[in-house]
Amino acid sequence: MRPDSTPPTIYRKDYTVPSYLVETVELGFDLDPDRTIVANRITMQHNPASPSRSIVLHGEELDLVELRLNGRALAPTEYKIEGSLLTIPRAPAQVVLEIETLCTPIQNTSLSGLYVSNGSFYTQCEAEGFRRITYFPDRPDVMAKYTVMLRADKARYPVLLSNGNLIESGELDDGRHYAKWEDPFKKPSYLFALVAARLVCQEEHYTLKSGREVLLQVWVEEGNLDKTDYAMQSLKNSIRWDEERFGLELDLDRFMIVAVGDFNMGAMENKGLNIFNTKFVLANPRVATDIDYAGIEAVVGHEYFHNWTGNRVTCRDWFQLSLKEGLTVFRDQEFSADMIGTDSGRAVTRIDQVRTLRQAQFPEDAGPMAHPVRPDSFVEINNFYTVTVYEKGAEVVRMYQTLLGRDGFRKGMDLYFARHDGQAVECDDFRAAMADANGRDLRQFERWYSQAGTPVVSARTRYDAVKRNFDIILSQRCPATAGQPDKLPFHIPVAVGLLDANGKDLPLLLEGGDHPKDATTVVLELKEQEQIFRFRNVDERPVPSILRDFSAPVVLEYDYTDDELLHLYRHDSDAVNRWEAGQRLAMERLLKLTAQVTAHGDAAVLKLDSTFIEAQRALLVDESLDPAFRELALILPSETIIAEQMEVVDPQAIHTARQFMRRTIGAALKTELLAQYRANQTPGAYSPDALSAGKRALKNLCLSYLLVAPEAAELKVAQQQFDNASNMTDRAAALVALIHSGGDAAPYLQAFYQDFENEALVVDKWFAMQAAAPATNVAAVRKLMQHPAFTLKNPNRARSLIFNFTNGNPAQFHAADGSAYAFWAELVIQLDGINPQVAARLARSMDRWRRYAPALQEKMKQALEQVAAQSKLSNDVQEVVSKALAN
Ligand code: TRP
Ligand code: ZN
Repeated sequence: MRPDSTPPTIYRKDYTVPSYLVETVELGFDLDPDRTIVANRITMQHNPASPSRSIVLHGEELDLVELRLNGRALAPTEYKIEGSLLTIPRAPAQVVLEIETLCTPIQNTSLSGLYVSNGSFYTQCEAEGFRRITYFPDRPDVMAKYTVMLRADKARYPVLLSNGNLIESGELDDGRHYAKWEDPFKKPSYLFALVAARLVCQEEHYTLKSGREVLLQVWVEEGNLDKTDYAMQSLKNSIRWDEERFGLELDLDRFMIVAVGDFNMGAMENKGLNIFNTKFVLANPRVATDIDYAGIEAVVGHEYFHNWTGNRVTCRDWFQLSLKEGLTVFRDQEFSADMIGTDSGRAVTRIDQVRTLRQAQFPEDAGPMAHPVRPDSFVEINNFYTVTVYEKGAEVVRMYQTLLGRDGFRKGMDLYFARHDGQAVECDDFRAAMADANGRDLRQFERWYSQAGTPVVSARTRYDAVKRNFDIILSQRCPATAGQPDKLPFHIPVAVGLLDANGKDLPLLLEGGDHPKDATTVVLELKEQEQIFRFRNVDERPVPSILRDFSAPVVLEYDYTDDELLHLYRHDSDAVNRWEAGQRLAMERLLKLTAQVTAHGDAAVLKLDSTFIEAQRALLVDESLDPAFRELALILPSETIIAEQMEVVDPQAIHTARQFMRRTIGAALKTELLAQYRANQTPGAYSPDALSAGKRALKNLCLSYLLVAPEAAELKVAQQQFDNASNMTDRAAALVALIHSGGDAAPYLQAFYQDFENEALVVDKWFAMQAAAPATNVAAVRKLMQHPAFTLKNPNRARSLIFNFTNGNPAQFHAADGSAYAFWAELVIQLDGINPQVAARLARSMDRWRRYAPALQEKMKQALEQVAAQSKLSNDVQEVVSKALAN
């Protein structure tokens, strides 16, 4: 390793208040791809709370032309530039700074700051991109009012946008034009945005509940106006929902969404000017799947909801990131659930959330990058936009609602805004609002923010037939994580119900509980290391349904018998636990089968019991159940989730075992699968609504089972669906099924490419399907990289092929010869020269390297060391690989 160039670690405990507070910022841009001039006038004053009289500004990749303080140009001796800090010592109390800098957007491939995408200008400032545009105290606790003047060539950049309201626009000499924007709200610099582009928009005047009229716009490149309806509809739904559920109104007269093809993340909540990855805006039935539609609704909602949870109330520092992200993810989850509107639809969204946690967050919490929801330190903040901060953070917010009830949660939200509107605050302030508004002691709940790792809740039960008592004994523990060897008990809401022998919910009587008399689910509050909960008047030994609705982000241990799981799988009124029972039944078998493959080297000896198959058959044909639920219940745990259950991961054995199970189910249920395939067609015009999408999901799952080991008849079904599909969901599903069937899918892939080569987002799908195909080895990926449509510069494209191989094709990525690890190292290094944020995400594919067999481990370590030994690594990648290699 290279201690000399180790980047510094930043600690939460080192927070100090800003020395100067900014009142107004006036920005002038002369936009030119090769040489953009930025003039910046900052009016600031000394912060009485700070002992320091030094003005501290951040700046990166900037060429400083002039720096004036209160009208006087400063000589180079009057300030200091060290790394990315510009310091002016001994400044007066009232300061007007005028700063002129140059930057080169065309060379900005990191997509942070001001950059060019397809010939137009866009910005991305979160977390620390504003400092790549101008010198500024680029920290979220410095909030100011912005006025922005944009000047650019009119023919090339006919549309000039920034935050807030357009107050002036007009012509300039030399074919240039200008637009002046003013944002009436104070904001941190990370919410600044500009767009100068050749775009068109769908727009609409929309009347708020209060009667005020606002202008809504969705801006896209020419040729995409046929793909903006769903984003616009989702925006209107979001506005309405936040009014109704939280009493929060849009505070601007104009709200804009802009889609851009080159973007590091999903989207960005810049005040009044949300900038989106095209993936989360553009949709029509021809090019977008049901999952794409759901993603658009969720992300449009997410960014819109940030206007209150993030923008009006923002973060004091980046350690508090989950204050806005966890809360806003929770809000977008609730929005999506409410948009479906049915209990079963709500349960389906909840199951999806549990799957994401298990697939990505639990592994993160158990790996080298484990961190608390509110981290204590980081090297590069961009590495902490994680599933822990987002999804586990949302679980933490959800637990307030579980503990306080919906009304109590709403009271807490109201108090949070009453106290903190216009402020930059901490996670503790949110917790205090929830506690104070409800008169509750939530001090222990703080540990959800400060302790990393996934808690394990272990349950035992005992039944006393004489006294008619049923006891549930809950205990908790949490594995050690980096820097946190010992954990204190969490405050865990554990929702519980009891099923009788007929599968009916028993009415509950919890000793010492104050729940309603007819309750069939109660929330147990586990706060100690171990606690006993007693249910009275229980006439028979019940089957406990524990952790209903996944009431806490924990691993639940309970020694269920197969019979008990089958009982829950048939009857649990809680759909999440009903699904969970099926997952437990499947996981038990998958682990046994995997062990057998590891021991015997092949699948010849494997067997699957008829009990499990019959349970699956019964569920598949139960038409009283939502198709969407049946689909989720029939999907086996993913290879990644199976791997997480193993001491020593054998990726090929997992794949073989899971495929065996899929093949066996497919053969045994062939008749029913075909019948359900036929019964769940969605003829007529495409609609992305939850019921239709659920039918397609179930139908396409049936298809995939039928195609594991297809005969001519099944192949024909898939081919016909591919040829005749009226929408991308069905077309893509048919193609994936054909690819996975093991036959020659090349003609279909070719036809698909020809049909969609001009639709970038569909070309991404085309790469992604191939990357995750069982037959795609590293040589095939290298070959795909030679395809003219492939480029590492576009994050969506890089992710579609490279990430879907490293993360979505474990059996090939972990090929015994280690060739894919060498490929990974090569790509991390190459990407790091283009876009460190994307490179660091790829670097994380190696997080779990210590869990593989020694021979693989050694090769993974070599690859990590090869990356770590590079002389010019970004902080982003360096942090990830050094943490992976640390003990
Ligand atoms: N705040 C954004 C969101 O959650 C996240 C985001 C968008 C982001 N672009 C980014 C974070 C670039 C870091 C870097 O909606
Ligand atoms: Zn967000």
